[in-house]
Amino acid sequence: MSVIKVAILGFGTVGEGVYRTIQSHAEELTSVLGRKVEVAAVLIKNKQKTRDIREDVLITTDFAEILNLPQLDVVVEAIVDKEQPFTFLNQAIQSGCHIITANKEMFAHHGNELLELAENYNVSVGYEATVAGGIPIIQTLRQLLNVNRVRHIQGILNGTSNFILTEMREKKQSFADALILAQEKGYAEADPTNDVEGFDAFYKTMILSRIAFGEQPNWKNVERAGITSISRELIETAEKMGLRFKHIASISKTGSQINAEVKPVLVGKSHPFYSIEGVENAVNIHSDIVGSITLQGPGAGMYPTASAVIEDLVYVCQNRSSNKSITKTTAACDGEKKGNEKELWLIQGLSKNYNNPLITWVAQASDKIAIIKATKEEIEKLINLKKATCYFQIIGEYDTEIKNKEVTLAVL
Ligand code: HSE
Repeated sequence: MSVIKVAILGFGTVGEGVYRTIQSHAEELTSVLGRKVEVAAVLIKNKQKTRDIREDVLITTDFAEILNLPQLDVVVEAIVDKEQPFTFLNQAIQSGCHIITANKEMFAHHGNELLELAENYNVSVGYEATVAGGIPIIQTLRQLLNVNRVRHIQGILNGTSNFILTEMREKKQSFADALILAQEKGYAEADPTNDVEGFDAFYKTMILSRIAFGEQPNWKNVERAGITSISRELIETAEKMGLRFKHIASISKTGSQINAEVKPVLVGKSHPFYSIEGVENAVNIHSDIVGSITLQGPGAGMYPTASAVIEDLVYVCQNRSSNKSITKTTAACDGEKKGNEKELWLIQGLSKNYNNPLITWVAQASDKIAIIKATKEEIEKLINLKKATCYFQIIGEYDTEIKNKEVTLAVL
């Protein structure tokens, strides 16, 4: 029986998870692909570290040695960096290998170039692991929603942030302790700034935008914020008001314009993301024929990410085209309308006596925290004038009838 030879670049959480899963699911892979899958090489950085890798596998720090292997079929990339892995994958494609990547930052920057090159060399690109961990969101969009016009996508795309917010609320953990736990569990990036400041979710959003709309928005026009401004006091007060903080990415297309933002918002009980907890991710796709679909599952960690890579392995070995089905959507999409409408906000620091006819007070949770209705422009003015310290949008429906005995909550 012939063999499919795979090289794994990087042996961190993801690389090791892929290696182990290829061993543990060898029979399943052989039965689906009709050929045995064998890890032929692993690219590492540090030769001194001990690793549990079979003796017949080439372990090297030199990518050229890997490319020189006879009959290499697939290169799986799970390196923490942007430019070097891009160079490796370029070379791999030009050597006739299919490629699979879990590298969001690299793929958000260079995905188009890799997909075009792969098409020219008639090889496939798998990148399911770049977005939402184990949730098969990319294949769903790429394979199953070919005729539907996607209007709007919302997602919790960073497992670490969702995990930290859940720990802070449920277990009253500090931000720092919750982050350490996320790192110990293998959820966080090597530099967790990417997680907690929203960069990781931003890259994932850009990848989704390309699949849903055939292109990315101008990165400079995308609002990106992380979760570092959310205190435990805010989380607790919001909970008493029937709201939870979620870090949500949102993309829609209005005419030819793609609108995207990645930021923490508040959702009420009726929102599909209210109960997405811990390391879970969720993606809600709203499209014209089917309506609304929500996919939910583990968004980070060794095996969820390995699952996405292994499914890609089958996909690329069947040499399915990665690029052909994605074209710029020319049909009119009437996604979220961005007007100057009044929206609901949780605001901190605004004095109860502050009087402004453009602002409607909805509920007062404490001296410092209230829910108001105003336009984004008005809210930004309050911040610029230092009348308030921070604000968070409430999305979806909010039940203003909430009355909680534990809090002096005045519904105004
Ligand atoms: N650090 C990422 C997260 C890993 O927490 O979502 C999965 O992409």
